[in-house]
Amino acid sequence: MKEIIIAIDGYSSCGKSTLAKGIAAMLGYIYIDSGAMYRAITLYCIRYGIINNSIVNHELLLKHLNKIDIRFQLNALTGNNETWLNGENVEDEIRKPEVASNVSIVSKISEVRQKLVAIQRRIGENKRIVMDGRDIGTVVFPNAELKIFMTADPLIRAQRRMIEMNEKGIQTSLNEIVENIKQRDYIDENRDVSPLRKAENAILLDNSYLSRDEQLNWIMQKINQA
Ligand code: DC
Repeated sequence: MKEIIIAIDGYSSCGKSTLAKGIAAMLGYIYIDSGAMYRAITLYCIRYGIINNSIVNHELLLKHLNKIDIRFQLNALTGNNETWLNGENVEDEIRKPEVASNVSIVSKISEVRQKLVAIQRRIGENKRIVMDGRDIGTVVFPNAELKIFMTADPLIRAQRRMIEMNEKGIQTSLNEIVENIKQRDYIDENRDVSPLRKAENAILLDNSYLSRDEQLNWIMQKINQA
C-alpha cells in the first residue's frame, strides 16, 4: 500500500484521538496528537509565569519560545506515543485542568502555531503518520492523501465526556459539560489564526451514532480508496 499522511480534524471530544490511534495501530503508522503539543507549550508557560490569570506575557513568551523542545516518545509498555517537554515526560501533566483551561489562549498565538506547525511538518516528512488536531488538513498538511473532518452531536459528545470524567472520579453536571463543549467549539472556530475549518477535500465523519468498530471499518474503506 502507498505510504500516506492521514489528517484528522474536528471538534473537541469527538473521539478523534481514539479513532486516530486505532487507525495507526491497524496500519503500523505513528499517531501524533497535535493538541498535546499545544498543551505542552501551555504547561511551560504556566511553569515559567508566562501566563498569569489567563493573560499571556507575549514578550516573555517570545524570549522563551526557542528554549522549548517538544518530542514524542513511544512507551513500549503502553504502546502510546507520549509527550516530552525539554526532556521530561509530561503526558499526565498536560491533561490536568489548569492546562486545559489555558490552552485555547496559548494556541491562538501565531508564533506558537508557526513553531508547532514546523515541528509537525518535520514529523510528517516520511509519511506513515496519523495526526489529529484542528488545522492538520487545512494548514499543516494541505496535501495529505486522506483528510477526515469529525463531528458529533454536542449532547452525545458531552455524555461521552461525562462517562470519562466519572471514571476519573470527577463529578460534574451534563449541562456544565455541554456548555464547555459549545464554548470550546466557538473558540476553535472563531480564532483569527488557523480557525477550525473543514478542508474542502476532507471527508465528513459524524460519529454520533457509530461504534468504534463501525468508524474503523468506514475509514479503512476510505484508506483503500485513497
Ligand atoms: O485536541 P485537544 O483538546 O487536546 O487540543 C488542545 C487545544 O489545542 C485545543 O484548545 C485546541 C488546540 N489545538 C489547536 O489549536 N490546533 C491543533 N492542531 C490541535 C489543538
